[in-house]
Amino acid sequence: MAQRLRLDGLAYGGDYNPEQWPEPVWAEDVALMREAGVNLVSLGIFSWARLEPRPGEFDFGWLDRVVELLHSAGVAVDLATPTAAPPAWFQKANPHVRPVTADGRVLGYGARQTYCPSSPEYAEAAARITRELAARYAGHPAVVLWHVHNEYGCHVARCYCERSAAAFRDWLRDRYTTVDALNDAWGTSFWGQRYDSFDEVDAPRQAPTAVNPAQQLDFRRFSSDALLTLYKAERDIIRAADPDVPITTNFMAGLTDNLDYWAWAREVDLVATDHYLSAERPDNQIGLALSADLTRSLAGGAPWLLMEHSTSAVNWQQRNIAKRPGEMARNSLAHVARGADGVMFFQWRASRAGAEKYHSAMVPHAGTDTRLWREVVDLGARLRELAPLRGSRVTADVAIVWDWESRWALELEYRPSAELDFRERIDAYYERLWRAGVTVDFVHPGADLGGYRLVVAPSMYVTRAAWAENLRAWVRSGGTLLTSYFTGIVDENDAVHLGGYPGALRDVLGVRTEEFLPLRRGETTTLAATARMDVAAAAPGTASRWAEDLSLDGASAVLQHADGPASGRPAVTRHPFGSGTAWYVATAPDAGTLDAVLRAALADAGVRTPGGVPDGVERVRRHGADGRVWEIVINHTRSDATLPGPEGPLSVPAGTVRVLASEPLESVGSPTDH
Ligand code: GAL
Repeated sequence: MAQRLRLDGLAYGGDYNPEQWPEPVWAEDVALMREAGVNLVSLGIFSWARLEPRPGEFDFGWLDRVVELLHSAGVAVDLATPTAAPPAWFQKANPHVRPVTADGRVLGYGARQTYCPSSPEYAEAAARITRELAARYAGHPAVVLWHVHNEYGCHVARCYCERSAAAFRDWLRDRYTTVDALNDAWGTSFWGQRYDSFDEVDAPRQAPTAVNPAQQLDFRRFSSDALLTLYKAERDIIRAADPDVPITTNFMAGLTDNLDYWAWAREVDLVATDHYLSAERPDNQIGLALSADLTRSLAGGAPWLLMEHSTSAVNWQQRNIAKRPGEMARNSLAHVARGADGVMFFQWRASRAGAEKYHSAMVPHAGTDTRLWREVVDLGARLRELAPLRGSRVTADVAIVWDWESRWALELEYRPSAELDFRERIDAYYERLWRAGVTVDFVHPGADLGGYRLVVAPSMYVTRAAWAENLRAWVRSGGTLLTSYFTGIVDENDAVHLGGYPGALRDVLGVRTEEFLPLRRGETTTLAATARMDVAAAAPGTASRWAEDLSLDGASAVLQHADGPASGRPAVTRHPFGSGTAWYVATAPDAGTLDAVLRAALADAGVRTPGGVPDGVERVRRHGADGRVWEIVINHTRSDATLPGPEGPLSVPAGTVRVLASEPLESVGSPTDH
C-alpha cells in the first residue's frame, strides 16, 4: 500500500552526508536547507563504519546530534540503513564474503557494495546494525521515511561464489521440487547437460560457450530474489520497531535491468527511484519521462518519490555534461508532472574528497554565490507553490508491456540477430508516443488491462501461456493490441512456442511466420503500401534490423517489404479479433512510418492525440481527488512555444515550465525565467 509521507507539501531535498564535514558545517547546512526550502533529507546511507566503528560497538552520538539539528529546523529525515557499505573490519574478518564475478574474479573492498548477497555473515551483520538503528530512532518525530540500503544490485547484482551457487541450488529445489522437472524446464537433453541431482547444478559461470539459457534466466530470477530477501529482512526488522513509518528502498527504474521491480514494488510502502540523464543522448527528456512513467506504473499509479537525480553533471560517465540554466527545474518538474510527489538529489553538499567529488550537488564546490544554488532556491520555492498538487494522479489510456524476464531472456547469447534489443524497441515506440503527446503506463504482461484502450508490446519475448491468454481475452473484449517482432516467442523457460511464430499470439495477430529473416547491419528495405493499406499517412518508408517470412492467416497486410529478403511479404498487419484489433509490426520501420502505424492503432483504439503541441514540448496532466486537473507544460526547446490552452493560446517561453490548475482555472506557477 502506497503510504503518504508526513510532510506538508512535495518533498524536496537530497542525500545528506554530514559525516564528510566538520561539525560546524552542519549548522550552516541546516540554515541553507531552510533557505532552499528543503524539507526532507536522506541520512546515513553510507555511515556503517561511523555508526559501528568496531564489531558490535555503536556510536550514535553524532547521528543523534544531526537528527536533532534537522528536526529543530523542520527538516524531516529519510533514515537509511547503511548496509550498502560494509565497513573494513567486516571485510577483514570475512574475506569469503567478497563477491565473485562470472569469470571467477574476487572483488575487493575500498569502494562500496562489497558483499555476496547469499552470505549469512553479511545478512547477520546487516540485521544487527538495522536492529540498533530501528530501536534507537523508531518513533522519532523527525523520521518520516526509512530508506533501506541503497540501490540494491547497482554494482553487484549477481555473485558466482560457491555459497551463491549453493543458495541457487536451494532456490531451484524450491522451484522445481524434482531434478527431472528441472531437466525438463531447462531442456538439458541439449548438449548432454542432464543432471542426476540438484547437487550437480552450478551457477552459470563463464564456460567455453553459451551456458544453458534457461539456467541463466533462472539465475537472474534467483539473484533478484536473493537481494529482495535481504531487503525484506531489514524491512521487517524496521517494521516491527516502527510500524507507522513507511519503508522504501531506492530503485533504478529504467536504468538497470538487474532486478524484477514488479516483484520488488509489492514490498515497499512507497515506490522511490533514482534517475540520471545519459550524457550521450540529446533527447534526454524522453528517457527521463520513460523512467518516470515506469516508476509510476510500479507504484500502481500512486504518487512516488524521486529519491535521487542530479542538479547538474554526474561523475561516472565518459563525459559528464553539465545541465544548462533551467534544465534542473525542467527535469525536476517533468518527474512531478508524471506523478512524483517529491524531488530529491544526490547529494546535498558536493564532497571534497572521494570517488564522487566531481558529482554536482545542491551546494556546489563554488558555494552559494552561484547560478546553481540560486536555481536550487528557486526550485524549492516553485515546489512549495505546487504543494496542492500533492496526491494527484496521472492516468493513461495507453500501456506498454514491460517485463524484466523478457529483457533477461531476450538479451542472452545466440539470438537470431545481435540487433534484438529489449530497450531499443521499447524506446522506439515510447518516443513516438511521447512526441505525439500520449501519456503511457507500463504494465506487466499478466496485469489487468481493463483500463486501457491500446496496449503496445514491443519486446514481450517471454510469453507465458497465461499472459498470452490475458492479452487474447482483452483484445477479444474490445482492446487494441500492437505488438512488435520477437514477441510471443518463448515460454518462461525460454523454450519456443511451436507451430510458427509468434507462437503464443499467432491466433490473435492472425499471422504465421515460418522463418525469421533478420537484416544485415545497416541494411534497409523499402516498405510499400498494400491494396488494403489503411495507414493513410504512411508514405512508403524504410525498415531495418528485421523481417519475417510471414503469411497472413486472417490479418490483412498494411505495409509490405518491396525488396530485401522478405520482398513481397507483409511487414505490418492488422487483424480484427473478437471485438478488438491486433496489429503486428514485423520489422523496425523508420520513425515516420512507425508514427503513422501507431496513429492508426490509436485511432482504432479511440485514443485522441492532443493537437497543436510543438515538438519538444511536453504536456502532462495530473488529476486531483477533488476533480481538479493540473496541467504541466514543459518547453524543452530553445524557442518560445504557443499551444492551445484552456483559456485561449498558452505561451510557454523557451526552456520554461508552466503549471495550470483547473477549478478554479488559475495559473499557479507563472512562467519562470530559468
Ligand atoms: C547513485 C547512488 C548514489 C550516487 C549517485 C551518483 O547511483 O545511489 O549514492 O553514487 O548514483 O550519480
